Amino acid sequence: MSAPRARQLSARSLIDASDPGIGILINTPTGHEPDCSGLSAVSTEATEDFTAPSTRADMTQPAAAGPLVTWAVDGESRSARWRTANERPMPVRVEVVDDSLTADDANRMASQGVAMLWLGDFHNARQILNALDRRLGGGKRKTAASPADGFYRHRQSRSHRARILGMLLVPLNPGPVVPLRRSPDLRAAAQEAYGEISEPSVVSLHELVGAIGAHEWRRNGVPVAALQARIHPHYGTFFPTRSEYVDLVALAPLPATTVAFDIGTGTGVLAAVLARRGVQRVIATDNEPRAISCAAANFTTLGVQEQAEAILGDMFPAGRAPLVVCNPPWIPATPHSSLDSAVYDPGSRMLHRFLSELPDHLDPGGEGWLVLSDLAEHLGLRTRLELLEAISAAGLTVLDRLDTKPTHAKASDPNDPLFAARSAEVTSLWRLAAT
Ligand SMILES: C[S@@+](CC[C@H](N)C(=O)[O-])C[C@H]1O[C@@H](n2cnc3c(N)ncnc32)[C@H](O)[C@@H]1O
Repeated sequence: MSAPRARQLSARSLIDASDPGIGILINTPTGHEPDCSGLSAVSTEATEDFTAPSTRADMTQPAAAGPLVTWAVDGESRSARWRTANERPMPVRVEVVDDSLTADDANRMASQGVAMLWLGDFHNARQILNALDRRLGGGKRKTAASPADGFYRHRQSRSHRARILGMLLVPLNPGPVVPLRRSPDLRAAAQEAYGEISEPSVVSLHELVGAIGAHEWRRNGVPVAALQARIHPHYGTFFPTRSEYVDLVALAPLPATTVAFDIGTGTGVLAAVLARRGVQRVIATDNEPRAISCAAANFTTLGVQEQAEAILGDMFPAGRAPLVVCNPPWIPATPHSSLDSAVYDPGSRMLHRFLSELPDHLDPGGEGWLVLSDLAEHLGLRTRLELLEAISAAGLTVLDRLDTKPTHAKASDPNDPLFAARSAEVTSLWRLAAT
């Protein structure tokens, strides 16, 4: 395999200075607080102790019925449908609470694994959620034995946070409406995250607040300098709040302008960049229905719908192309929720599949563009040698490598638990060809 030639792009000229930070998925309570892998991470609402069947929202299908949450009022059993947009576990033990609940009570109940179905004032519920969150912030951070140890500790604490915050529940009725005093109009946000609500349901307030943030992102869009336009992410779709990797795709020399595949398209941002660069036909795939409807909507908004098509599917579409692009999840670790899976991929399965199946999908003389952060290398989760060996084992050779350094805030925040790795991170576009 030929030695890769690294080219450092000028981050300053590439990055929109207003960019808040990192590529994230949209479900955090604020809608824009990225989670653990930081410059890479998504919100982790923990599902480690997953106890319920998947009720993941698929906006292209009628909403699947979830299991029933049950609780007792005056000794009488009540129930409602458990709904989650993010494969959250259904709480096993539920007690009804109201405005008389103190933050200390809430903290104690959540720590004991008792979920609280809030039937008081909506704003008070949010205050309790914030109070729970503040209590989780404290505590002395133990020194990590290694970057990998630091990473796992960080994920553990995010996971714990998500579990505790997920213990506060609210009713969600057809409308969708939260039948609580002073509840805001959540129709659009709840519809986008959960789909149709056809019967009385119960959701996590933490997740619902995330849906509100996600709705704002979708409405306002994210500026993408390479498109000179905004991309509008849908709930649960990975989107480019850090845009340097998009700029790599905007600048790499095109091997052809006839056809390109974009594998794991997310919002469709890379496919749209290729279309704007003059590629006549771009076939974009993703195995997430939410991503497909999001990409299709963005193609239309950006006016590239005649060139770019979003197809639900696993990895490659049929046939071959002179250019195949892929930005796979880049941290080899277990996702804790469906929203995590755009970033975390155990054993780097998508990366390995992209490399090993690429030669069968490239036209003679074609190129595969692998967009990959090396954060996992700095965290001790993958080595550069493993990557180079996988490239070589797939019968691929490296034509070139374009590098860029992330400029998001966490990369320069020494208080961030993953600062050492984040500050060293480089994102690369590997130009690969079949040997
Ligand atoms: C890191 S995100 C990249 C999204 C988008 N290409 C971008 O650059 O912003 C990875 C994407 O791959 C998708 N994905 C994961 N496994 C996949 C598979 N087996 N087939 C197709 N898409 C997959 C995820 O749903 C996610 O949208």
